[in-house]
Amino acid sequence: MSRARTTAALAAVAAAAVTLAGCGMIPGSVTGVDEPEFTRELVIPPLAESDVVDGVRTFRLTAQRGTSELVDGMTTETWGFDGSYLGPTLRAHRGEKVAVEVTNDVGETTTVHWHGMHLPAAMDGGPHQTIEPGETWRPTWTIDQPAACLWYHPHLHGKTEEHVYRGLAGMFLLDDDASRAADLPSEYGVDDLPVVVQDKVLDDDGRLVLEDDGAEPGQLGDTVLVNGVAGAFQEVTTERVRLRLLNGSSARTYSLGFADRAMDLVATDGGLLDAPVRLDHVRLAPGERAEVVVRMAPGGTTRLRSSEADLGGVAAPFAMGGNDAFDVLELRAADELAPSPAPAWGPSAHAEEDALREEDATVTRTFELDQRRINGELMDMGRIDEVATVGDTEVWEVRNTVPMPHSFHVHDVQFRVLSVDGEPPPPELAGPKDTVYVEPRRTYRLLLRFEDYTDDRVPFMYHCHMLRHEDEGMMGQFLVVEPGSDAVPGRSPHLAGHG
Ligand code: C2O
Ligand code: CU
Ligand code: CU
Repeated sequence: MSRARTTAALAAVAAAAVTLAGCGMIPGSVTGVDEPEFTRELVIPPLAESDVVDGVRTFRLTAQRGTSELVDGMTTETWGFDGSYLGPTLRAHRGEKVAVEVTNDVGETTTVHWHGMHLPAAMDGGPHQTIEPGETWRPTWTIDQPAACLWYHPHLHGKTEEHVYRGLAGMFLLDDDASRAADLPSEYGVDDLPVVVQDKVLDDDGRLVLEDDGAEPGQLGDTVLVNGVAGAFQEVTTERVRLRLLNGSSARTYSLGFADRAMDLVATDGGLLDAPVRLDHVRLAPGERAEVVVRMAPGGTTRLRSSEADLGGVAAPFAMGGNDAFDVLELRAADELAPSPAPAWGPSAHAEEDALREEDATVTRTFELDQRRINGELMDMGRIDEVATVGDTEVWEVRNTVPMPHSFHVHDVQFRVLSVDGEPPPPELAGPKDTVYVEPRRTYRLLLRFEDYTDDRVPFMYHCHMLRHEDEGMMGQFLVVEPGSDAVPGRSPHLAGHG
């Protein structure tokens, strides 16, 4: 960081201290991001192998410890699945029955959650489905949702941030007939690239630092990685490339795009938009995904960049990374590029059975977010907060009541953002979503439906995906039950009531 920038930053901290004093928070260090040389080849997580056993596509993942070279020339102790950092990309087709045998070799309890997946609560890998050291957990379910870019990561209550930060995360791609038929770059690792963006703090010895100095919304790192590499480039051999962007960070919200060209947003968290949307940048909060297609010129170079992010009315945007602008990934085009069509797909890309209709909504729930609480409560593993009836379409009204960012995520379903403060959502919120950045003082109306998979005992989660907020209790639990079930909100005799 330059002297001038540091001085400005310190002044900003002082200002933040004044602004935040009223809500009892201590401002953290002002952020800034190092810009590395882009000299290292991008690492593409391998596609996970699988065997089809009795009609079940079975994957195996082992969470383990290792060392990685996140930053050129430095060795860092990290965790990964089947490797030392991140994990392989799982891939399955709609209608397939899948199973994942997850073995825990990290030496402490963890869990693995399938973020964005529609599946039974007992298979979800939330805080109740713990995997003890040395054990293997084998969830199984049928893929029953549109093509999308989902991801997996630990979800142990109070430890999620640490486990993800050390490196436990990976992508889970779903295909369907419509996505296969669409005109979209789709050769994995060639013109269809996973891009997991994460920020870290490393000390002089290369150790990952994770500290709580009271900064909101959590620790922001000055080293930005794509797929576990700082300063990565990718050689491009086609006219268009599709980037599957995932914000796998704890707290940082990015505004991703290219300084010299627009891009086509083709999909959000849960699948394809109705049609591509031309954008300069897309804001991504922790947990959110966006698929973009960018056009390359022969021999040309460009960089994916995170520009100053509009965080909405937060108290101290500069202290929350809102003023940071930095390059993330370099794309280098070959002198000759294979032609690729402009992104396009037909209306049949959206199956009638997936449609959500506001007029079907029979239940409205409200969720008020403050610094850490949802509807005035902190997470209690032994308490059920909401009970939904299978088959119901509901509206969830989520309001952020404080000048602090949150990233609201619901398990089991993809929702549609009906409105933001009564206005239609911007294009990047118009597709299927499971996580949404919730700007301060705004109300987001979400439409969702609980289609199947009832369980009177095992809950799904909803929570803030800013991982420190989540770990500190910004989470609630809901059941999906059969009509007539006697399950009610309150303390549950079926749940271990750890705090
Ligand atoms: Cu990405 Cu409840 O998690
Ligand atoms: Cu999730
Ligand atoms: Cu939050």
